[in-house]
Amino acid sequence: MNKENLDSKISFDTILSEIWEMLKDGAEKSKSDFHLGIICTINNNKPKSRTVVLRKVDQNKNTLIFHTDNRSGKIDEINKNPNISWLFYSNESKIQLRLEGKASVHTDDELFEQQWASSKLISRKCYLIYDQPGSSIKEHDGCLDQSLAGGLPTEEQSEVGKVNFSVVETKIDSIEWLHLKASGHLRAKFILDKDRFKGEWLVP
Ligand SMILES: Cc1cc2nc3c(=O)[nH]c(=O)nc-3n(C[C@H](O)[C@H](O)[C@H](O)COP(=O)(O)O)c2cc1C
Repeated sequence: MNKENLDSKISFDTILSEIWEMLKDGAEKSKSDFHLGIICTINNNKPKSRTVVLRKVDQNKNTLIFHTDNRSGKIDEINKNPNISWLFYSNESKIQLRLEGKASVHTDDELFEQQWASSKLISRKCYLIYDQPGSSIKEHDGCLDQSLAGGLPTEEQSEVGKVNFSVVETKIDSIEWLHLKASGHLRAKFILDKDRFKGEWLVP
């Protein structure tokens, strides 16, 4: 494949703006392939991955946001080691994104309040479980108060879970884009340099 041809077809600026558009779409639309991402943190020197919902994307700040229970294992992992990676794949567009950066946990600031205010009751219900996520229990019982088991909490009941809610913000400093194509896969890397992402092509 003629590399010059490939490069002239798509510029780094175009790829970057498509990346941020796909991510914003992911945060806004539950049907988007990028609505769910895999985040990987470090637990005792070993990688640990899990699925989360991409809740907010701020291109000006280069940040991605997810919500979690502040009693969950990943909070302790992030507090000990803020290095985090996000992985997305869209089967529709055949694009994989690998993003890396530093995560910070928000539990009492403006961002926290905004994200809590915009959380639906169905999401807030997760924060009403009375035991620490991941701790062992003798029998599975949903870990919710009987009155909540079958349905949604009221707004007032949901406020009880606010103490367990946290917002994790990742400041992205590196992005790797892989586009699978029958004509030849394309792979590019973007590294944050001062305030701009600088691109380079990689062997796919
Ligand atoms: C489709 C899907 C979406 C999920 N979204 C979230 C989420 O937004 N936040 C979250 O903390 N956990 C979410 N989870 C659960 C996590 O994958 C994980 O099991 C849980 O957070 C415990 O992780 P930890 O013990 O590593 O902290 C989701 C799981 C699935 C399957």
